This record gives sequence, C-alpha cells and structure tokens, in this order.
Amino acid sequence: MRTINYDQYQKQVKEAAEYIKRFVKERPKLGIVLGSGLGSVAAALTDTFTLPYKEIPHFPVSTAPGHKGELVFGRIGALQTLLMSGRLHAYEGFSMREIVFPIRVMQLLGTEMLFVTNASGGLNPDFELGVPMLITDHINFMGNNPLVGQNYDTWGPRFPDMSEVYDLELRKKAVEAARELGIKLQEGVYVAVTGPNFETPAELRMLRRLGADAVGMSTVPEVICAVHAGIRVLGVSAITDRAVAEDLEPLTAEQVLEIAEKTGHKIASIFLKITERL
Ligand code: HPA
Repeated sequence: MRTINYDQYQKQVKEAAEYIKRFVKERPKLGIVLGSGLGSVAAALTDTFTLPYKEIPHFPVSTAPGHKGELVFGRIGALQTLLMSGRLHAYEGFSMREIVFPIRVMQLLGTEMLFVTNASGGLNPDFELGVPMLITDHINFMGNNPLVGQNYDTWGPRFPDMSEVYDLELRKKAVEAARELGIKLQEGVYVAVTGPNFETPAELRMLRRLGADAVGMSTVPEVICAVHAGIRVLGVSAITDRAVAEDLEPLTAEQVLEIAEKTGHKIASIFLKITERL
C-alpha cells in the first residue's frame, strides 16, 4: 500500500481552499459535481467565473472524456454555487483521497449542500434511457473508501452514520420539481464499481441481485466524503444504457455521452427549480 502523509494532505486541502478564497468573495452554499456528458447543467449558472483545476495548488487534474477540468463559480437563482466541471475517477488511477480532494475544499469553503450527477447503466429492466434517476441510496462496490486512514475529527467523525445518505428533504423537493416541470423521474439505488470496463452479463446479474437499479463508475466516493463532512447530498443519475444481462448489447462511451447530454437538460431544469425553493 502506498503510504500517505495525511497531515500533508490536510495542509494541501487548506492551501487549495485559501487560494480559491482570494478569487471568490461569497462562500458557495451549493456544490455541484458534473458527471460524464452532463456539462449542460453548468448553463444553469449565472454570473460565472472559472478557475481551471491546474491553476489551483495541489488540485488533481481530471483526464476523462466529457470532463473539462475546471471549477465554475456562479449563482443558481439566489444560491452561491461552486460547480466541478470534470470529476476525478478511480479508473483514471486517482486514489480515493485524491477523488474527494475537491469535496474537502468545498467543506473548507463552507459548502452546505452537494448535488451530484453521473451517467449510469440501468440495471432495473423497467428503466427508460434518457430519463433521470433520483438516487435514493447507494452501494459502495469499489473495494475502497475515501475515509480509510487517519481521521481528522475537525472534518468529521471516525464512524459516520449512513442511514440517510441522500437527504430526504432534498429528494422530496426533486420529486416535486420534476412533477411540476412534467419531467419523468425514476428512483433507485446506485452501485459504484471502479471500471473502466463496462460490466459482463454475469456482473450485471450479480449487481441487480445485490439490490441496485443503476451502475456507474463514480459518485460514491464524493458522497461518502460529503456525508462525513456534514454536507447534505442530492444525487441524480442519467440512465444512458440498458445494463440488463438478458438483453445486453455492446456499449460504447460515445453512446453513454450522447444520451447523458440529452438527459442533462432535464437534470439542470430540476436543479434550477429546487434551488428556487431553498
Ligand atoms: N456501466 C458502468 N458505468 C456506466 C454505464 C454502465 O452500463 N453506463 C454509464 N456508465
């Protein structure tokens, strides 16, 4: 196992947060993490200001397709917002601590809520493609956890509760918003794997039996970190493909991105509507 200097990690998070504070006057109350192909959610922000990851000290730089690699500061409605355009994935070789580095930065900036999005495969045979899925709960199937290692009690408890990871109040607001907008919203459990390969039929059967409705390669590390940090979480998946063993067809990343882009507009409208009520 790679040895990690946890004190240095904490210092680096602080330095990154201090750097960002020089550019932003108001603390971002809301954080948003964009999934693959979901860039259109960024269009919901007004009065924007952008900082590329590579300019922020110690900030890990994402390489995945459909991920820009910049922080966008702005407002959604009246809410001061910090949006990550480009997330970090385990399949890129990032450690769990690196993946959640931006979430820790958000914590130090005073972020109170986190909206996460992703592209995922629909394990639930009743799911429709291009329809958003409100995440009700998750399964960490990545074989790792961002909280492993030394705990900083100032950041959160050693053994955080996970009985309601996806904030019920925010979920209710999302359901109401979708109904008012006439946007169909599915609900279900998200399971995270490391990827980068898409699943075999045997793996899909297993994940379905474990109780998951959608499978993807992200989100769970950031969400675990946010809950640890006391940040309220809302999660929405774009269902981009049928991940059903019995009628599985070959899948490409291009198809995932194409359907994610179409779904992104619906997710953005839902987020906008929710923030009007916060
Ligand atoms: N499996 C894993 N990750 C994904 C999928 C999938 O079918 N679709 C989009 N991301």
